[in-house]
Amino acid sequence: MKRPRLLDLVKPEVLRLTAYRAEEPRPDLIKLDANESPFPLSEELRQALRGVLDQVDVHRYPDAKGDRLRSVLAAQLQVAPGALILGNGSDELIQLLLLATSGPGTPVLAPVPTFSMYELIARAQGLHFEGVPLGFRFEPDLPALIETIERTRPKVVFLATPNNPTGGVFSEAEIFKILAVAPGLVVVDEAYGPYAGRTMLPHLVDQERLVILRSLSKIGLAGLRVGYLVAHPTLAAELEKVRLPFNLNSFSQAAAVVLLNHHEWIDANVREVVRERAQVISRLDALPGVETFPSAANFILFRTTRPGDDLFETLLQQGVLVRNVGSVPGLQDCLRVTVGTKAENDRFLEALTKALRQGTGAEREVRTAT
Ligand SMILES: Cc1ncc(COP(=O)(O)O)c(C=O)c1O
Repeated sequence: MKRPRLLDLVKPEVLRLTAYRAEEPRPDLIKLDANESPFPLSEELRQALRGVLDQVDVHRYPDAKGDRLRSVLAAQLQVAPGALILGNGSDELIQLLLLATSGPGTPVLAPVPTFSMYELIARAQGLHFEGVPLGFRFEPDLPALIETIERTRPKVVFLATPNNPTGGVFSEAEIFKILAVAPGLVVVDEAYGPYAGRTMLPHLVDQERLVILRSLSKIGLAGLRVGYLVAHPTLAAELEKVRLPFNLNSFSQAAAVVLLNHHEWIDANVREVVRERAQVISRLDALPGVETFPSAANFILFRTTRPGDDLFETLLQQGVLVRNVGSVPGLQDCLRVTVGTKAENDRFLEALTKALRQGTGAEREVRTAT
């Protein structure tokens, strides 16, 4: 019997995808590309962790649902533990949400440009991804969103707020308007919420279609891969059925409990990044040929007169790694820089100033806002 060729075994939807790209670790570079927190653990916290990790029983499976970690989170967020599902990063919860709600052809919607995993996961599962362009300065285009929601009737709407990679936010009023017309779930992704100082959590009680995604990755604990979802407990109980058992390993669960109990460390670091963000934006705005976009996150999107690919390489040669997002539709010549420590930000701005001075003769005119 003739057997299919190896690649014929892979779904066409998957063959068409491009894998998510993460940079190889390069300790020689100033790493401002992945929206991580720049602050390592203090010696005191490392010490506290060592003690706890020593006690992890690696010959046993982890706590299947992460009850201990869920109870710490539930107390801090003031929600019922039954409303919470833990994920191996919030990426995994995006996949879980779509797996539990949507099948081939199901419409799923998000404003674009946005976090690439919504579309990648949707497409891999054969869903229909509908991207609704943000406005000229990447502000929400509410009329377009509402019109497209009414026309396509998506099962799930993803709203990242602050949005990655643009940094902008949806106001509470805008989210309510979307909730009022959406026939399906409205997933508010608050991965960067702490940097914006806002959350939709208090509205979960009276909005049963609202689902909130959160992550510990952007506030100092990216290596642990801990994300969580908060939803109406009835919905959470259904989603729970497709969560893989033991998805979050014992070390991450134990470490997250310890570190969340030191939330003053997390909060102080967030405040420091917010202070630095304002500094970096005003210094970028002072550079000729640079256009920044408003950011409530721990990164800043900017466009320059110098071609973005070229600028990205020049920064890299000077030891500074940012994210080149220029190939994303609508983001030509845009780079995204994560807010680092003061010293890292100084190095980045110094390298950028130098790179812009060098120029290449290929400068464009930066579009200015109207
Ligand atoms: C908007 C948004 N949501 C979710 C994630 C996923 O984060 P994690 O899987 O690390 O929790 C990211 C990561 O970049 C993001 O930008």
